[in-house]
Amino acid sequence: MPADQQTVLDEILLSDLYNDPYPIYRRLRAQAPVAWVPAANRYLVTRYDDIVHLERNPEIFSANEHGSLMTRIMGHTLLRKDGDAHRRERAAAEAPMRPRTVKHHWLPLFQRNADDLIDEFAGDGTADLFQQFAGPLAARNLALVLGLRDALDTDMQRWSQAMMDGGGNYADDPVVWQRADTAAAEIDDAVYAAVRHARRQPDESVISAMVHAPDPLTIDEIRANVKVFVGGGLNEPRDSICVATWAVLTHPTIRAEVEADPARWRAVFEEAIRWVAPIGMYPREVTRTVELGGVTLEPGSRIGVCLGSANRDETVFERPDEFDINRANKAHIAFGGGPHFCLGTWVARAQVAQVALPTLFRRLPGLRLSDTEEVRLGGWVFRGLLNLPVSWTV
Ligand code: HEM
Repeated sequence: MPADQQTVLDEILLSDLYNDPYPIYRRLRAQAPVAWVPAANRYLVTRYDDIVHLERNPEIFSANEHGSLMTRIMGHTLLRKDGDAHRRERAAAEAPMRPRTVKHHWLPLFQRNADDLIDEFAGDGTADLFQQFAGPLAARNLALVLGLRDALDTDMQRWSQAMMDGGGNYADDPVVWQRADTAAAEIDDAVYAAVRHARRQPDESVISAMVHAPDPLTIDEIRANVKVFVGGGLNEPRDSICVATWAVLTHPTIRAEVEADPARWRAVFEEAIRWVAPIGMYPREVTRTVELGGVTLEPGSRIGVCLGSANRDETVFERPDEFDINRANKAHIAFGGGPHFCLGTWVARAQVAQVALPTLFRRLPGLRLSDTEEVRLGGWVFRGLLNLPVSWTV
């Protein structure tokens, strides 16, 4: 690589990626689609086609990253396993996530949760939907799906944040480890109680499915995998609810279209997660010498798979920075690809596209952005709104 180009890569700061990764991704896609970025301590892969290719070759691009901080916090979860070991654990968790179960069992419960939360603030005329709706709704729905019967919304949100912060604690901050360890111990207690309950009384939950699977998971496997659900099944629905709501509030023609035809909420959801992928980057590790995007990667090379960039690849999506629910139907990859393709896609679609978005716009007449506070966005590993202040007519 030319020296001046490496200098440009040396100058990429994590804080710039956090604030707005998209101009950086655009440059990387054009000039260095597989780029060693020192600040990230890995090669960032930014083109759509390269990501699709690596997900089709999981034996070369392994999910089992050595020295994974996520594994340190959670134990060895299905998300960091390959091949048969991964398939076995995934199969044990699959039944509650199937479209039929979601439609007949979870959907009415998600609707009840959304209505209960909106009941609490509908009379106020103003709210921060991030704090008062999207976060608690995603937490409550996830606790239900997992079978963590006594977990409070606040517990779930604190645990989830602690798992994510621990998994990204490259600065080795002892306070972050402490919080993650405390959360992990509390999740373990909740899991033990849920497993005892599921043994006596099987139900539709993920924990019950893991206990009663044809090839049941051990208690250690359940403890680890529940943590990956807690760390990975809350912020994405929350962030997609906020980004989609914000997008509709700032695009009046789309708002008119979707209010006239509620079936279009599904397109709003899919476009929202293309536009701002809630999981912007995830890791892989190279197992043998391979060429990708013109770069030779040696075994042990650490990769950052930048979904946030692939979803804005101009060779795949026209006008990629625009939010447009009528764009030509190209598949976004916000749910990943390959063997680790998101297990919670139907749970996410149901709670966001079928429940949260239509219910908000139906129950809060004249919903609009509040003019008292700016909407803030942040993140590149996980990206979303940090607040969503709104008002409506009461
Ligand atoms: C908008 C919502 C969501 C998005 C965009 C999303 C995105 C993703 C992505 C990109 C992956 C792959 C990560 C990797 O390969 O490293 C993934 C995996 C996973 N997701 Fe989601 N997710 C969402 C919602 C959910 C929900 C609601 C749940 C649980 C109820 C969930 C559970 C999981 C699990 C268990 C995996 C690991 C699958 C495996 O390793 O086989 N996700 N998700």
